[in-house]
Amino acid sequence: MSTNELIDQLNGAMSFELTGVIQYSQHSYLVTGPDREVFRDFFRDQAEEAHKHAQFLGDKIVALGGVPTVEPAMIRQSIELKEMLLQDLELEREAMSAYMAAWKACGDEDLPTKFWLEAQIADEQVHIEELEKLTSERKATISSDKIVLREVG
Ligand SMILES: [Fe+2]
Repeated sequence: MSTNELIDQLNGAMSFELTGVIQYSQHSYLVTGPDREVFRDFFRDQAEEAHKHAQFLGDKIVALGGVPTVEPAMIRQSIELKEMLLQDLELEREAMSAYMAAWKACGDEDLPTKFWLEAQIADEQVHIEELEKLTSERKATISSDKIVLREVG
């Protein structure tokens, strides 16, 4: 493992978490109509989660001798709830790729960091699955004798 490569990959994940703070907050401001009752708080909770993840990453990057980035990745905006959710799903998938790249860069010399990343990755996967359900990309279907999960598209 090269520590520099790991720091670079962690900074990649950091950019997506910074985007998450801004993008989810913006979605919470922009969501209107009856959906606002539920989704304003949903988006704000997600923004807080992204902030927490960014803080973990910032602390870890400094612990490894690096400097955390202050540059977010691309921020997507919309005024339509369905489109917001699709934009957030895309962001979560990009963040997942960045965390996986960091995990690959980690190797076996720094197992505590590797285990920490694995916990993060498990957390991120839950976000992806929830957004897949919210956008109906993942849903249960009923076959003759049982309910099965399928991915659409
Ligand atoms: Fe995250």
